[in-house]
Amino acid sequence: MPDVDDIKEGKRYFTDTPQQTEGFFLKGSNALDWGMKNRLARIFNPKSGRTVMLAVDHGYFQGPTTGLERMDLTILPIAPYADTLMLTRGILRSIVPPSFSQSIVLRVSGGTSILKELSNEELAVDIEDSIRLNVCAMAVQVFIGGEYERQSIINMTRMVDMGTRYGIPTLAVTAVGKDMARDARYFRLATRICAELGAHYIKTYYVEDGFETVTASCPVPIVMAGGKKLPELDALTMAYRAVQGGASGVDMGRNIFQSESPIAMIQAVKAVVHDNETPEKAFDLYNAIKNK
Ligand code: R5P
Repeated sequence: MPDVDDIKEGKRYFTDTPQQTEGFFLKGSNALDWGMKNRLARIFNPKSGRTVMLAVDHGYFQGPTTGLERMDLTILPIAPYADTLMLTRGILRSIVPPSFSQSIVLRVSGGTSILKELSNEELAVDIEDSIRLNVCAMAVQVFIGGEYERQSIINMTRMVDMGTRYGIPTLAVTAVGKDMARDARYFRLATRICAELGAHYIKTYYVEDGFETVTASCPVPIVMAGGKKLPELDALTMAYRAVQGGASGVDMGRNIFQSESPIAMIQAVKAVVHDNETPEKAFDLYNAIKNK
């Protein structure tokens, strides 16, 4: 029991200093609850307002992707450079040590493989497991225009409802079917639907023409998806244009872990995202670290 005999009258009220009420730094997120904001602030750097997420969840539908065959050897050395690691619970539990202190975004939709229709996903992780794993967000694939469009949207809204109950944000990942146009019009549609239905932030592809209209019409943060492997300077240029066009960071996989020097590439991407470094300067940095 605390000592109640020696209670002194408090004096430090600072009555002439009003309490500051900070606005939250992230677009469209000010009305969220404390736990939700705290998790988002572990994904997005509060200083730059942006994130570099390292996506290594490819195995959930395509098995041991090039660069992810031995994630203990290839991903663990670069993971500490990322702001966030996006992966499945299987890899988290089997490969990542619990002392890993970067934030985790957990892939929670699944149930399909590259051998069949990819949009036929369900929620594949219980909210209780996300809580148990102490994750900062849950990622659900949304297939706008896909065969199982409705089902994938409802997967997302169910996750938003469950995550809201426990303060865990939902990341909607917009997947583009093979026969769909990858243009600003499509991405405005896909991202806006996800945001309207409650996603806390959205992963989508970069398009040369009109990307800024995608970020402008989406009321919550957008992170740029990496896509297939490009030459390093091209990937850095794409990341640069995306953040200058209003993206709140990137969620890149193959363009980092399939790079000739993943450890140099992730640091170059960070320079572009957090320090507004130009692609050319970031590429110099990439070469300098690679050749060390
Ligand atoms: C698919 O849509 C998944 O989210 C991926 O497995 C992953 O995030 C893709 O990353 P990247 O295209 O940058 O390799």
